[in-house]
Amino acid sequence: MGERLCIGCDLGTSTIKLSCGDTKFLIPSLIGEPNPGWSGASFDKSLENNLVITEGRDSYYIGELARMQSEVKRALASDGQMKSAEETYIALKAALGLFIDNDGQDVIVATGVPVATSMGVMKNLSKMLKGNLEINVKNDATGKTKRLNVNIEKCLVLPEPYGTYYSTLKEKGEETAVDTVLVDIGHGSTDILTMYQGRPMRTASGSMREATDTLTNRMASALQEKTNQIVKPFDLMTIIRQQKESVLIGGQTYSIKSIREFYAKQIAKVMVDEVMRLITTLPPDAFVEYYIICGGGAYTFGEAIKEAIIEGHLVTSDESVIIPEDPVISNARGFELIAQSQ
Ligand SMILES: Nc1ncnc2c1ncn2[C@@H]1O[C@H](COP(=O)(O)OP(=O)(O)OP(=O)(O)O)[C@@H](O)[C@H]1O
Ligand SMILES: [Mg+2]
Repeated sequence: MGERLCIGCDLGTSTIKLSCGDTKFLIPSLIGEPNPGWSGASFDKSLENNLVITEGRDSYYIGELARMQSEVKRALASDGQMKSAEETYIALKAALGLFIDNDGQDVIVATGVPVATSMGVMKNLSKMLKGNLEINVKNDATGKTKRLNVNIEKCLVLPEPYGTYYSTLKEKGEETAVDTVLVDIGHGSTDILTMYQGRPMRTASGSMREATDTLTNRMASALQEKTNQIVKPFDLMTIIRQQKESVLIGGQTYSIKSIREFYAKQIAKVMVDEVMRLITTLPPDAFVEYYIICGGGAYTFGEAIKEAIIEGHLVTSDESVIIPEDPVISNARGFELIAQSQ
């Protein structure tokens, strides 16, 4: 059956990230009802942007297709946790269909879920994915279908930031038993995972509401106040992602540099306060050697958090605060390495 595939996955609340060899995918964490009638109208004919999965009698739009076309759609996760193992299972199956072309393919999957996800949902997801899966996917733009039998030899479900912990320490040539605090800043929530003696420590880990969308919400109100125009936080998301310095509102250009920096600093402080609160529960023999900042929010808050950690004397050397080269894919990449090590 050829070679076994090792797939790393990160089920974020805004984006599902997948990594396998040189291929990576970022797809919106959305599942939606089919909305026929628009089929084939898409300009982009890639499977990843036109993904439909059939489960029994039901079909679902997944990711970008759900975002663009489904009238009724649900986020797979919210408030920092996966909502249901069933819907996550369907979306993940569809995502696996992007990588796999051979019937009977052997696969090992390692996936991350938000830190606040219950043990029950994690176990359930792992159990559902193991064994023989029948994957039925269709490209909505071309009508092309793929019907595959896949053998999932193993499916590991772990807290999201664990992937970055693994990949970063591997890269540094460190053993994965070094006490580390990970701050994973996503779109709608920030996860903090504390590793003590090579194991996640629940009491020193947690999830908080402040994240990238906190910044866009605050910026939107500030801009609204200033311009007397309606400013939607969602529209600022793209601006943040493209790291733009100004916005166009009502035909006028406004600089956002100073308000972005102001709020980013404030929010970063809240995040570091929470980290400080959590690490007080660590046993006295713990020694936090690294603070690693990942997730898409690392682009916006990374430097401010780094500064606050250094100012708060949480580390003795600046090199102890790490931002991975690609903080968005670093979890999925780490999970791929974990799958390979099995
Ligand atoms: N290159 C970039 N520059 C600035 N911001 C970015 C960049 N890439 C992504 N982001 C922002 O990061 C956020 C998404 O981060 P990420 O993909 O880590 O979230 P998530 O994993 O889906 O959410 P969570 O971890 O809360 O489940 C979005 O708000 C996005 O706009
Ligand atoms: Mg994430």
